[in-house]
Amino acid sequence: MSTLAGKHLVLGLSGGIAAYKSAELCRALVKAGATVQVVMTEAAEHFMTAVTLQALSGRPVYTSQWDRREANNMAHINLSREADAIVVAPASADFLAKLLHGRADELLSLMCLARPIDQVPLIVAPAMNREMWLNPATRRNVAQLRADGVHVLDVGQGEQACGETGDGRMLEADEILEDLAAFFAPKILQGQSVLVTAGPTYEAMDPVRGITNLSSGKMGFAVARAAHMAGAQVTLVAGPVHLPTPRGVQRVDVQSARQMLDAVLAHVDAARVFIATAAVADWRPALAAEQKIKKDGSGLPPSLDFVENPDILATVAQSPRGVSGALFCVGFAAESHDLLAHTTAKRLRKGVPLLVGNIGPATFGQDDNALLLVDESGAHTLPQASKQALAIALITHIAKQL
Ligand code: CTP
Repeated sequence: MSTLAGKHLVLGLSGGIAAYKSAELCRALVKAGATVQVVMTEAAEHFMTAVTLQALSGRPVYTSQWDRREANNMAHINLSREADAIVVAPASADFLAKLLHGRADELLSLMCLARPIDQVPLIVAPAMNREMWLNPATRRNVAQLRADGVHVLDVGQGEQACGETGDGRMLEADEILEDLAAFFAPKILQGQSVLVTAGPTYEAMDPVRGITNLSSGKMGFAVARAAHMAGAQVTLVAGPVHLPTPRGVQRVDVQSARQMLDAVLAHVDAARVFIATAAVADWRPALAAEQKIKKDGSGLPPSLDFVENPDILATVAQSPRGVSGALFCVGFAAESHDLLAHTTAKRLRKGVPLLVGNIGPATFGQDDNALLLVDESGAHTLPQASKQALAIALITHIAKQL
């Protein structure tokens, strides 16, 4: 994710079994374009070797405040001054307690205490047994650390290394990566509410068959993620897709176009922006048979009648809030040819201020795309890039229109 490109992060590991996930996190951060300086506590070295993290980060790892490689012998000052943020993952219960009290008896806590507090944010990913996480001491520590300006990430829920089940696992590496990417994104939609539709719809013919299309939902999910990264409250109404929910986004799963419309109408009043990326089926079978349609032996296929589905985008855009501009509506156009002409005509037909054209066959299921943004002032191309990068560019464009 591009917001991490060029960032320099100190990745601190304290002692916890979740340290194995930090190796993956380190690798993912480097892949995202960040430089990573790893600092480990002595306890962390019981779980993960410095050799592993040196190999993954491409930099020697610091484990002691007495490290003689630093000319001035002040690793805690030097390392923290050059960082865009310090990320402690895993942050053990003991390490959180140390941070809270400003203790500084080894390099990592010393460095956290010595960091310029207004310039170098401290982000921690707690990791501990569920009883430790629920203990009033930890609850107090987390609340006070947040009040002190430390960014305490959520914990995961589920089976723990100790065999118990509950809250307290460290988030997975990809979840921490997403939270860090969001942390660095400019908060251009702070306080705004955004509603997004994504994916195909599925229109049943009978209990086991239906018609749908090849939309993967990737673009809509990327748009929802980008809006959340920009600080918005995001509701994502998703047709049947196989994608994880972007972090921090409220997801409503639907199947058919009519269900999608109902879900949209239930959430649209709270929204400032509506972005319709879903590839909604234009027609549905007039009747969905209650039982499986069987061959009747005649060799003839069953005849199916179709009826048109409601146009979700047009319905919302033509509502009083859509017409007045209180709700900023954005549509997508999946075309196969003559992109500019079709997108321009469709924008007027749907009555939306912004329509985003793309070539359907070239984008469905892919990770990359190119977009054509058409509004009343003309057309603007976002050239081929990852859907996530395009989503960030689109959200930036939308934020300027509000
Ligand atoms: N859309 C919608 N509800 C529908 C059909 C489309 O909300 N029943 C929205 C899509 O989410 C997209 C925009 O309208 O934002 C354009 O969708 P598209 O399928 O490209 O256009 P159609 O209106 O279906 O026109 P056509 O298929 O004739 O190109």
